[in-house]
Amino acid sequence: MSETLRPRAVCRSPLDPADWSEFRARAHEALDAALGRLERAGEGPVWRPAPPQVRGRFAAALPRSGRPLAEVLADFEAFIAPYSVGNTHPRFFGWAHGAGTPVGAIAELLAGALNANCGGRDHIGPIVERQIAGWAAEAFGFPPQSSGVFVTGASEANFLGLLVARDAALGHAVRGRGLKGAGAQLTAYASAEAHGCVRQAMELAGIGGDFLRAIETDEAGAMRPGRLAEAIAADRAAGLAPFLVTATAGAVNFGAFDDLHALADLCAEAGLWLHVDGAFGAMTRLSPRLRSLTAGLERAHSVAFDFHKWAHVPYDAGFLLVRDPLAHRGTFAAPAAYLSRTPRGLAAGEDWPCDFGPDLSRGFRALKVWLTFQTLGADAIAAAIEANCAAAVRLKSRVAASDRFELCAPVPLNIVCFSRRGDGSGEVNREIVMRLQERGLAAPSLTQRGGRLVIRAAIFNHRTSFADIDALAEAVEEIAAELG
Ligand SMILES: Cc1ncc(COP(=O)(O)O)c(C=O)c1O
Repeated sequence: MSETLRPRAVCRSPLDPADWSEFRARAHEALDAALGRLERAGEGPVWRPAPPQVRGRFAAALPRSGRPLAEVLADFEAFIAPYSVGNTHPRFFGWAHGAGTPVGAIAELLAGALNANCGGRDHIGPIVERQIAGWAAEAFGFPPQSSGVFVTGASEANFLGLLVARDAALGHAVRGRGLKGAGAQLTAYASAEAHGCVRQAMELAGIGGDFLRAIETDEAGAMRPGRLAEAIAADRAAGLAPFLVTATAGAVNFGAFDDLHALADLCAEAGLWLHVDGAFGAMTRLSPRLRSLTAGLERAHSVAFDFHKWAHVPYDAGFLLVRDPLAHRGTFAAPAAYLSRTPRGLAAGEDWPCDFGPDLSRGFRALKVWLTFQTLGADAIAAAIEANCAAAVRLKSRVAASDRFELCAPVPLNIVCFSRRGDGSGEVNREIVMRLQERGLAAPSLTQRGGRLVIRAAIFNHRTSFADIDALAEAVEEIAAELG
């Protein structure tokens, strides 16, 4: 073997550690501290704001020279770790946050050390990503050859789903010609409960947010199919071009589900693309007991969802699954000389992840999903989802039994919206939520119901017990009593 091809025992670079054993020792300490934090995730306040002197440290100038790792890790322990969001804590009830898992954290470390660019090329990253698409297809009842791509989150996945639907309606030529040459104005439809990213996707696509029709919902929060049919007919009569229905499986406010079979029938009849925003709700598909909530999901053209929410894969891990891989690929694939494929070697393989979305450089998100499902299994994740729904029923009954509070929305899943009785605008609710957060007792968030701000407790954390629910209910009562 020539000298130049002989493997090198240890690489020497000024950016690698000068002393590997010292580096290893510090790295092991950092890992131990991180795992210790997860082991005791329920200790201490749910959240604490970063004080001004801590914030000030992060206004310092670009460091021109480095400091010892031990010193920087000590800064991390003192000034970063204590001031995180709090979503690992069992009494974090805000928005729709997953809690992460220790195995997910290890996966991040392993992916970081591999530092694979998963935009394309013939290596294990895209192969694992392909397997995750297969698992999603299996869980959702999609054909095995369905295509999938990791993105940051459901916001981006909904946007990309809309672009695939746009191309299906107008042909891929729209990529070159733009919307101006497309003829009639496109219109899309979603329930009034749909997440704001659905409208934003219309804005980003240049179609226009005003051409998303917010369809009235029933008492359960599901889009009324009759109203949808009327809106489509009215738009057609006005010379517009309906192209997409974005259904919601688990709406952000209180977890409402659209009737996917009814919407699939309607889309088939009207020739529209059916996309499902299943950001967190699609994961209920893993549970045989909750499966009926998403009946009809298997008929959709595309689904957006997140592994980082109810599957607790560390942020970020959004995903778009598309039934027709050709429609998906044709929307994004862009030939370029520097991305030429070869019959063999590292540039082999026709389908690269960069052909299914706008990201060229991208990390190995698939690894943390793979490790999570391989080690925990889908059944354990499903059981944690079911436990969250049971905890929501407990909170619902605590609220129903309270003299001070009232429920403000149905509780079909894991989200409980409630209000101080008689709090017309929601000022008291807002004060209660801020005090809960500032005292580190619990962290629900707020939303609007019936024109007022209400308390919204979304139970996504696999560490949340009934005792945590009771603690929230009691803290809320106490603060309400303080406020009179
Ligand atoms: C129903 C729904 N859709 C979309 C989103 C956006 O997801 P992401 O924050 O991962 O972009 C959310 C976030 O909570 C959601 O609840």
